Amino acid sequence: TTAVRQTLLVLGASGDLTGRLLLPGLGALLASGALPGLRLIGSGMDDWDDERWRRRVADSFATVGADGAGESEVIKASRYVRADVTSEEGLRRLLADCAGPLVIFFALPPMVTARAAAALARIGVPPGTRLMLEKPFGVDRISAHSLNNLLATLVPEEQVHRIDHFLGKSTVLNLLGLRFANRIFEPVLNSAHVACVDIVFDETLGLEGRAGYYDGAGALTDMVQSHLLQVLALLAMEPPPSVRAQELRGRTAQVLRAARLWDDDPVVASRRARYTAGEIDGRRLRNYIDEPGVDPARRTETLAEVVLTVDTWRWAGVPFRLRSGKAMSAVRKEAIITFKQAARVPDGLTGYERPDRLRIGFGPDCLALDLNINGPGNPFDLDQVRLTADFGPGELPAYGEVLRGAFEADPTLSVRGDVAEECWRIVEPVLAAWRADEVPLQEYAAGSGGPVDTLLGPVPE
Ligand code: BG6
Repeated sequence: TTAVRQTLLVLGASGDLTGRLLLPGLGALLASGALPGLRLIGSGMDDWDDERWRRRVADSFATVGADGAGESEVIKASRYVRADVTSEEGLRRLLADCAGPLVIFFALPPMVTARAAAALARIGVPPGTRLMLEKPFGVDRISAHSLNNLLATLVPEEQVHRIDHFLGKSTVLNLLGLRFANRIFEPVLNSAHVACVDIVFDETLGLEGRAGYYDGAGALTDMVQSHLLQVLALLAMEPPPSVRAQELRGRTAQVLRAARLWDDDPVVASRRARYTAGEIDGRRLRNYIDEPGVDPARRTETLAEVVLTVDTWRWAGVPFRLRSGKAMSAVRKEAIITFKQAARVPDGLTGYERPDRLRIGFGPDCLALDLNINGPGNPFDLDQVRLTADFGPGELPAYGEVLRGAFEADPTLSVRGDVAEECWRIVEPVLAAWRADEVPLQEYAAGSGGPVDTLLGPVPE
């Protein structure tokens, strides 16, 4: 084909993120054929040569089976440039090397991203350049705001791709079809019918050697401020007239602007906890604070729970619980919509005490509906049955999906600047209360179900 070859310039190429997420996503995207070739340039402070970098790219591509001729070509032509990407001089040298349409990927910690963006703003980028930035976007609302201002001097907002890979998960995107392309759910998704909403993302994984990043972030920033608020937005937003970038991101911004802490009180609305030693599926995890690289003085949480309210006509009074924990007894990744009891159950029917629930699983991907019907046995004594459906896997892994957006200059699946700031606005009172130690840091053994003292009681089974 004669399609123009784009250049992907990775800042922070020798870092953990590039190897773990960016390159496998890129490999999958290349292997899918959705990207007609690519020039790949890696850059970082480490003293790597082209060979070492190419090995890293090849290894990462191999993890997703991206080993076709197209991918080998990209790897062979790929180069590594050692540079200080926070200096104008370093960046100027890098840009001089980049031909054609350019995507710059900031695979850097927030502080370094801010400095690199500032240096870049002083020298400018070629027209049409797209910028991709990893989460966390800033470290609080003010830093996110100044980073937004800085980026706005470089390129128009549509060319800034703030990554939240949950927006690339096919199950998360399935919320759009489920809610807006069916007649049966939308009329009951409101405070007249819904008792509460849980968005849970529990992992059995512990720190996995990521102290350098995670110990400075914690569960609230790592999962709730970013991923889970995006899921909430898709679950709670008003129907958009189209799923194109402007409308969808407008609806996201609108619903998040209406979200605030339950009772406006971080002490009531949040819980935090940290895992201690324990065993999960025969795997022994050590105490979080004994993990290499962890600084106990930081008091980083590995589980965060926040209860929000969405102040709109539709949702007034309905609690939304967002919870994510590491080193939990079981993987649990789902949104659960719990409905109120039927308005009036006829006398003579029994066994309907468990509420109806709609569950959307994010891994394994599935949809389930819990209903009270007359199962086996006495037809007047009801049973709860579960109707389930499995979603097929998406065409691309989540990371490949969001990368595709940047290469196709389509910002639909990236986080708009004001939305990133809004997400910080929502969690900031919690961060402040935790810093001031107004909410106790609880402990839970790795492999357990997490703390039991929660505002809404345990997450429904
Ligand atoms: C990442 C977080 O963004 O998302 C990790 O930093 C978390 O801590 C991961 O494990 C979960 O995403 P996935 O794609 O593995 O479900």
